[in-house]
Amino acid sequence: MNMREEPPLPLEPLYALSDEQLAERIARAKVSLGESCVILGHHYQREEVYRFADLTGDSLKLARLASLRPNAAYIVFCGVHFMAEVADILSGPDQAAILPDLAAGCSMADMADLPAVEDAWRCLGEWMDVERLVTPITYVNSMANLKAFCGRHGGTVCTSSNATEVLKWAFAKREKALFFPDQHLGRISAYRLGIPLEEMALWRPGEPLGGLTEAEIRKARIILWDGYCSVHQMFQPAHVTLFRERHPGIRVVVHPECSFEVCQMADALGSTEGIQKLVRESPSGSKWAIGTELNLVNRLKGEMPDKEIHFLCPTICLCSTMFRIDLAHLCWILENLVAGRVINRIVVPPIEKEQARLALDRMLSIT
Ligand code: 13P
Ligand code: SF4
Repeated sequence: MNMREEPPLPLEPLYALSDEQLAERIARAKVSLGESCVILGHHYQREEVYRFADLTGDSLKLARLASLRPNAAYIVFCGVHFMAEVADILSGPDQAAILPDLAAGCSMADMADLPAVEDAWRCLGEWMDVERLVTPITYVNSMANLKAFCGRHGGTVCTSSNATEVLKWAFAKREKALFFPDQHLGRISAYRLGIPLEEMALWRPGEPLGGLTEAEIRKARIILWDGYCSVHQMFQPAHVTLFRERHPGIRVVVHPECSFEVCQMADALGSTEGIQKLVRESPSGSKWAIGTELNLVNRLKGEMPDKEIHFLCPTICLCSTMFRIDLAHLCWILENLVAGRVINRIVVPPIEKEQARLALDRMLSIT
């Protein structure tokens, strides 16, 4: 896709520019790229980048929206690696998904890799007929090859907004589910479907038989991968208690990547899109404590001065990888595109793409 085999324009000189200068150059590059380029901004993006997004949303909404822009040859994803992979999977063959900084990964997605999941599948297979009894489900925050794994084993993908519905589908089909990489999303979603905690097991990759006994595996309806989001695990039950004591009438909404206890104590759970919708639609004067990444909470605070909006944690909880996407990287990508150079393209290999697409399509048909 790199039309001219010339080296990319360098990134380093852009760091000498002020935010205003970078913003001016980004705006100019956007005009010159026109409809050929669409910029997607996840809700956790820093404000100065977010304001250049043509489309904003949670991870899945963004990928879906991108697939509705067939004229855009370039999909610049201001988010993290797995999101750009999903954009590549769902977009057309002539579209390039681009991640402005290749180091913008997701620490939770990195907690499950294909060899470890295949090993778990093989171990479980020693005790039961996995293909008949177990549905593998991967949270969208995962590598494309795990989505492909789910595709070829009759499983699917879920997001933070549809995990319960997806699990319901899975349990109607097979007795058990293997859920990765986020144990918290899996636990709260299964619990809300009526599965008791005693029928959930935690699979610790690297330990023999995931650290479980045969009896625990046989009893489990859902086997949860021992993965979590380091940002959302910062929110603690004590924070919820404190806000309720200090701010009578406050409502607490958290992302389901928070711990089971925090999710159970909250008044509502929501994906990043769901949280925004809930707070925006609440009456003027409402009080909210929000348990998700700081950039999103600060944006809502700025947008709705008529509501009292608090960040649920006393310390700063930023997604440090998402934070890597800054004005310099965005400018660098766009100016290279203007110069005919496609850099930082995320390409999912064809077979993986086909199987991952199967898993994603299953999810789309369930929800
Ligand atoms: P959403 O899909 O709700 O945007 O969440 C993505 C994410 O990474 C939350 O930590
Ligand atoms: Fe991954 Fe957590 Fe960042 Fe979301 S907030 S992208 S789960 S590290």
